[in-house]
Amino acid sequence: MSALPFPFPVVTWQEDRVVVLDQTRLPGEVAFLDCLNLEDLCAAIRRLSVRGAPAIGVAAGYGLALAAKLAVDARLDAPLALAAVLRARGELAATRPTAVNLFWALDRLGAHAVRLSADGADAAGLHAGLLAEARRVHDEDIAMCRALGRAGAALLPDCATVLTHCNAGGLATGGYGTALGVIYAAREAGKVVRVFADETRPLLQGARLTAWELADQGFEVTVLCEGAAGSLLRSGVIDAVVTGADRIAANGDTANKVGTYPLAVLADRHDVPFYVAAPGSTFDPATAHGRDIVIEQRDPAEVTAFAGLATAPAGVGAWNPAFDVTPGELVTAFICEHGVLRPPFDQSLTVFRFD
Ligand code: MRU
Repeated sequence: MSALPFPFPVVTWQEDRVVVLDQTRLPGEVAFLDCLNLEDLCAAIRRLSVRGAPAIGVAAGYGLALAAKLAVDARLDAPLALAAVLRARGELAATRPTAVNLFWALDRLGAHAVRLSADGADAAGLHAGLLAEARRVHDEDIAMCRALGRAGAALLPDCATVLTHCNAGGLATGGYGTALGVIYAAREAGKVVRVFADETRPLLQGARLTAWELADQGFEVTVLCEGAAGSLLRSGVIDAVVTGADRIAANGDTANKVGTYPLAVLADRHDVPFYVAAPGSTFDPATAHGRDIVIEQRDPAEVTAFAGLATAPAGVGAWNPAFDVTPGELVTAFICEHGVLRPPFDQSLTVFRFD
């Protein structure tokens, strides 16, 4: 019996606030966090209470609606209300640098705010218009994930064993999932899917979140230390590796949770297809090459301690990039709402230049 409705209520607008499912508490506890102001929401994104590229984008959309609501409460006039929304856009943009979905949503909602304001909207009109647009972004994300899920499901055999990394599931999106969306859609199409989930050091999104949500949805899921992925791939049991992405450059180079690149190398070495599943909001035609993607560096303490316990001697440094870049040449295909995009990616990904 699932603990939550599905698609998961990862981020919602409730009355006067943004409510996020606090993913730092999973798998131990299903708890929600009320974000009553921008500081709360930005802190929730930074500490990964809400995380995963599309989910951050959805949260940012509701964040701009929240900024407009606070402008209504403060009785700001129309120009000051717009200024507050645009300031909030800057604050949200500074939370995490790598997932392009954040900037995609902020650009979309920011432009909408400017249009509403030019059409004469006061603070209340701005709030109503931004909330409606944020809900559209959210609904579209679920629809894109369902569509890409169907496209990806067709790539899997009737009885499939899939290896995934980090959490690119309902928890990382508007509720349905990208890599795990493929797995949900495969089951909806009558296929049987067994999943191996990399634990995903250092914050264990694979063990804590992917394993939690797949078990919650009734799948057989097995967690492994990512160092064991090589042996697993060599054993021949894996039909496909499917991951999500935080930003996909025009040439197919893909930023995703650190550890994805070595997994792609291993998949290539063992002739296992390596698929990246992502909605249109993750493709960044303005970034030509993976080397232009900003990689978030996080607190070294995330590597040297876990849950308050030291995992390295005191005083030892740590390198903690949150993401790595997989060269496009290691990606078998991208799975998106337009279908399955295969190399050469500098041609097939042009579908996103006109969105
Ligand atoms: O640091 P996180 O947990 O936000 O990283 C998440 C990932 O790397 C996901 O694989 C990616 O955002 C795709 S989510 C559909």
